[in-house]
Amino acid sequence: MGSTATEFKNPATATLLELVKGRRTYYGLKAESPISDDAIERIVQDSVLHVPSSFNTQTSRVVLLLNEEHQKVWDLAIGAMEGLVAAGVLPQESFEKSTKPKLNSFRAAYGTVLFFVDYETLGPIKEKFAIYADKFDPFALESNAMSQYLVWVALESEGFGANLQHYSPLIDEAIAKTWGLPASWKLDAQLVFGTPTSEPGEKAFEPLESRFKVFGKSA
Ligand SMILES: Cc1cc2nc3c(=O)[nH]c(=O)nc-3n(C[C@H](O)[C@H](O)[C@H](O)COP(=O)(O)O)c2cc1C
Repeated sequence: MGSTATEFKNPATATLLELVKGRRTYYGLKAESPISDDAIERIVQDSVLHVPSSFNTQTSRVVLLLNEEHQKVWDLAIGAMEGLVAAGVLPQESFEKSTKPKLNSFRAAYGTVLFFVDYETLGPIKEKFAIYADKFDPFALESNAMSQYLVWVALESEGFGANLQHYSPLIDEAIAKTWGLPASWKLDAQLVFGTPTSEPGEKAFEPLESRFKVFGKSA
């Protein structure tokens, strides 16, 4: 997708776009890492520090879980789902056939990055810029999504595969308790990563013509 013949002034731009094109959802993952834990930590820390936020509010909070700590997330999710089965909300059969194997496939990976938004820190700025008050929460989530995307692309650039999950609010309380996190940290997404054991599925693209327009382009 997109032109391959375009010349860029900075070769890193082409490399960046190649990484963007190469990022996919990988579900088959194992608990091996192609890089050091320090390198993983650096990727996540750089995303926390350098991804922008509206008015530089810096609302994203991130927890990196590796090895056994990562497995705990998915044990908590399995426990939460078992609770739904016991409550009669989730049929036992679909839990055993579909939910549990899926959660165990996440558990089999190397790590999970938990992405949170601290909406409570936005109180003062909402007062200061009352006219934008209802925009700050969505802006905070958008900024968080940028961090998720950067970590996803960077981890895959290093040889990991990753997939993005959303088990909030089901696991929120157990997560906060297990790792002693502040109550104001609201969980948004879980990025599961590990060494790929299978290729991503086929991906269809809606034509650019129906999704993109350009005006005023020089000949
Ligand atoms: C905002 C967002 C939310 C997503 N939520 C989930 C999710 O909860 N579970 C999941 O398995 N994949 C989730 N995905 C992955 C998408 O299904 C996937 O990115 C999409 O089908 C395109 O495939 P690709 O990632 O291989 O390019 C999410 C992706 C985005 C961008």
